[in-house]
Amino acid sequence: MRTETPAPVRLEDYRPPRFEIDTVALDIKLAPRATRVGARLTIRRAADTPAGEPLVLDGDELSLVSLALDGQILAADRYRATPSRLEIDDVPDGPFVLDIETRLDPDANTKLMGLYRSNGTYCTQCEAEGFRRITYFLDRPDCLAVYTTRIEARASEAPLLLGNGNPVEQGEVPGTDRHYAIWHDPHPKPSYLFALVAGDLACVSDRFTTAEGRDVALNIYVEHGNEANCGWAMDSLKRSMHWDEEVFGRCYDLDVFNIVAVSDFNMGAMENKGLNIFNDKYVLADPDTATDQDYAGIEAVIAHEYFHNWTGNRITCRDWFQLCLKEGLTVFRDQEFSADMRSRAVKRISDVRLLKSHQFPEDAGPLAHPVRPRLYHEINNFYTATVYEKGAEVVRMLKTVLGGEDFRKGMDLFFARHDGEATTIEAFLACFAQASGRSLDQFALWYEQAGTPSLRIDSAYDASGKRLTLTVKQQTPPTPKQADKPALHIPLRVGLMGPDGTELSPSSISGAETTGDVVHITAPLQKVVFHDVMDRPVPSLLRGFSAPVTLKSNLDDTELLFLAANDTDPFNRWEALQSVIFKTLIDQTSAGPRQQRLDIDPRLVAAIEATMADERLEPAFRALCLQLPGDADIAREIGNDVDPDAIHFARSQMRSGLADALGPMLKQTYDNMSNAAPYSPEAASAGRRALKNVLLDYLGQGQGGASGDLVGRQFEQADNMTDRLAALTVLVHARLPGHEEALAAFADRHARTPLAMDKWFMVQATAPGEETLAAVKALTGHPAFSPANPNRVRALVGAFATGNQRQFNRLDGAGFDFVADFVLDLDTRNPQAAARLLSAFRSWRALEPERRARAKATLERMAQGTDLSPDVRDIVDRCLQ
Ligand code: TRP
Ligand code: ZN
Repeated sequence: MRTETPAPVRLEDYRPPRFEIDTVALDIKLAPRATRVGARLTIRRAADTPAGEPLVLDGDELSLVSLALDGQILAADRYRATPSRLEIDDVPDGPFVLDIETRLDPDANTKLMGLYRSNGTYCTQCEAEGFRRITYFLDRPDCLAVYTTRIEARASEAPLLLGNGNPVEQGEVPGTDRHYAIWHDPHPKPSYLFALVAGDLACVSDRFTTAEGRDVALNIYVEHGNEANCGWAMDSLKRSMHWDEEVFGRCYDLDVFNIVAVSDFNMGAMENKGLNIFNDKYVLADPDTATDQDYAGIEAVIAHEYFHNWTGNRITCRDWFQLCLKEGLTVFRDQEFSADMRSRAVKRISDVRLLKSHQFPEDAGPLAHPVRPRLYHEINNFYTATVYEKGAEVVRMLKTVLGGEDFRKGMDLFFARHDGEATTIEAFLACFAQASGRSLDQFALWYEQAGTPSLRIDSAYDASGKRLTLTVKQQTPPTPKQADKPALHIPLRVGLMGPDGTELSPSSISGAETTGDVVHITAPLQKVVFHDVMDRPVPSLLRGFSAPVTLKSNLDDTELLFLAANDTDPFNRWEALQSVIFKTLIDQTSAGPRQQRLDIDPRLVAAIEATMADERLEPAFRALCLQLPGDADIAREIGNDVDPDAIHFARSQMRSGLADALGPMLKQTYDNMSNAAPYSPEAASAGRRALKNVLLDYLGQGQGGASGDLVGRQFEQADNMTDRLAALTVLVHARLPGHEEALAAFADRHARTPLAMDKWFMVQATAPGEETLAAVKALTGHPAFSPANPNRVRALVGAFATGNQRQFNRLDGAGFDFVADFVLDLDTRNPQAAARLLSAFRSWRALEPERRARAKATLERMAQGTDLSPDVRDIVDRCLQ
C-alpha cells in the first residue's frame, strides 16, 4: 500500500475550501494507548459549493468511533470512513453540527506528528498535516476556525493540562482519578496551529506588559530538575516581545504565552498559538552543557517562534506553496532581532555562511526548488534552506530595494490589510508595491526561479575621463524543470574605496537606476558608469551580501587584500579575505600531485596577521576572518568532480602552513583572549572565546609539539562547554595524544545530559580519519544513543552525513551504504526524520566519477525498495531524476 506514488499537489490547482468550519470544540480524553477525541464542528457549505456535494474531510491513520450530524447518529450508508478520509453524503445546506469521535494510540505514534508522548508527556505537532492524525478535518491552512479545547487526563499522570489561547476552567471529574482543563482561543486559526500538552512538568514564570497595556503571564515548562536552565530562554522571550513592539509595532494578543520543551521533536520548534512547543535543545542552557552557539540558537529560535504570532498566525498561508510567506519573513525578522541584540556585522557574516553552506548546495543540486514551489509530493520535504534562508534573503532584498521607510510602510499595510486572513506572496508583494509606488513584477521572479544566480562584474577605470565602468552580467543556471530564466531584479550595493582607504563618491551614476548605494541590476547585461571618480578606486561589490548570488569579478588579489584591510563595509572585508583564501585552497586542491607544503602568498599571511592583531576589530569578527572555510565550503566553490580527500589535504596543509607562518603571535593572541572575566553568554564574551578557539585549532595542528599540551590543558581547565568542546574537537579530530581519555572524561561528566552527549556524538562523527565510520557504527549501539530521538540521530548520523565530507563520501561507498541503511530503518518509524537525513545525498552529482557512481548505486538500491514512505520516496526520486 505504501509503494504507490500519490499524485503531486500543484499550485495551479488551488481551490478555496468547499465547506467552512467556523468553530471547533474538542474534548480529548487522554490515555497512553487509547485516547478518545471528540470533535464538534460547526460547518457551513461555502457560497458557491453546489447543494448535494458531499463533505470530504482529511484523515491520516485514524480510526473512527462514532459520527453524528445535528445530534443524530449517522447510519453506515450515509458516509464512508477510511483511515485517511471521511466522506459524508447529503449534508444540510445551512449550518450544521458534526460530532466525530476518533480513537488514538499516542504511545504507538513514532512519527512525532499528531498526538504523541515524549518522555511520558503528551504533546502534539500539527504542522503541516498532523491535525488529521487527531481528528477528521479540513486540514488545510486556509480553513480558519475558533477552537475550544477540553483536555482530560489522570491527575497523577498529567497534573498539567495546556491548550491554545487562554485558560477558561479546570476541575476534577467527579468519582474518578481524572481532572480536566478548558482552553479557549479567540483568534481564528488554521488546524496546523492547534496544540495541546499534558504531563508532569516544572514551570518557570515571569510577566510582560505590552505597549498596549496587556499584562501577559509567561511560562516555560520543562522536565523537573531543569528549572534552573530556562533563564536564557525567558530573557530571550522578553527581549523578543519588546523588540517586535519597537521595530514592527506588533504587540502580543493573549493573556498567557506558554512554551513547553520536549525531548522528542522533529524540528527546532513550533509556533502553535499561545502554546509554543520546542525541541529542548532550543530552551535549556547552562554554561557547563551549552555552547555560545547554543545560547545564540536559543535566542534566535525563541524569537522566531514568538514572531510567528504575527507573521504566520495572525496572518497565515493560503496554501503550503506559500510557506515562505511565513517562514522567509519570520527568519528575516529573527535575523534582524539577533543583529540588534549582538553585532550586526558578525550576524550577517554568520547568516551568509549558513546560506552558502546549506542553501547554495540545495539550489545547485537535484533538490533545487523555487522559494515558492509550484509542485510537491510531500510537503514535509519543503521545510528547506531555500524556503527559510533564501526566503529571508528575498525579504531582505525587498527592504534593500525599497529602503527602510517604505519597507516598514509595506509591512504596516500588510498587517492592516491581511490580519485574520490566509494569504499569498502576491498579496504580500502588493502591499509593498502600493506603499512604495514601485513595480515589483520583476522582483517577484525571486519567488519563482530556482538556482543561485551568478553575477560577473568587470570593472575598468578610465583615468583621463575619471570614470569607473562596471560591466555586470547576470545569469541563473538551469534547475530541475526550469531551463531558461529571465533576468532578475538584483539590488547591488556598491562602494568605491579610494587609495587612501576613504570612500569616493561619484557625481552621478548612469546605466542603472540607483537609490543611495544600491544599484538596481535588472537586465542580463548592464554597463554601469560612475562619473567623476577622482582617483582609481577599488570597487567594493555586493556590500553586505545585498543579494543571494555568486559573484565573480576581475579584482585581483592585491585589490582584494586592499579591501580586506580597508573596506568600510565589514561584510566585504571578511568576504575579500575569504576570496583570497578560497583561491589558494582551490589552486592547491587542483595542483595535481600533492605538494608536501603549499606556498601561501606572504601578502595573505600579512593580511591575516594584521586582522588577528587589530584590536579595533571585535574578536568575534576576527574569529570569522581567521576561520578557514570547511571541506564542504571548498567543495561547493569547486562545484564539480569533487575529490573530498584532496580538499581535506589542501585545507590541512593550509592550516598548518598558516600556523607556522603566524608563529608566536597565535599563542599571544590566544593568551590575550583567555584571561576573560567569569563566563557570560553575552556576545562580547562569546566573541573572545570564538577567537581563542579558532586560534586553538591552528595551535593544535602546527608543527610545535608542545601545542598538544595546550589543547589538553584547555580541555581540563575549561569552566564552560564552549571551551571544553572546542578543545575536545581539536584533540579528537587531530588524534592528539590523550584524545581517548578526553572522550572518556567528557562522557563521564555528561552521561546524564543527553544534549551534552549529542556534542560527544557529533565530535566523533565529524572526525576526518579513516576509522570514523566504524566508530559511528559502534556508537549507534551506545546506551546514550537512541534512533527514536531526532536530536540523537542528527548528532550522530546527521553529523556524519553532512559534516564529514571525507568519510561520508568514502571512495569505497561504505559511508553512503551506512547512511542509506540507517535511513531505510528509520523510515519504518519516522519518515520525516528519515527523509531529512537522506537529503545529505543532494550533492552527489558534484562528486568525481568514482564516488558519483557509488552514490548513484546506493540511491538506486534505495529506489528499488517497495515500502518506502512517501517522504523518503520523494527525496530518492528527486535525487535520481
Ligand atoms: N513552523 C516551524 C518553524 O519554522 C517548523 C516546524 C516545526 C515544522 N515542527 C515541524 C515543520 C514539523 C514541519 C513539521 O518554526
Ligand atoms: Zn518558522
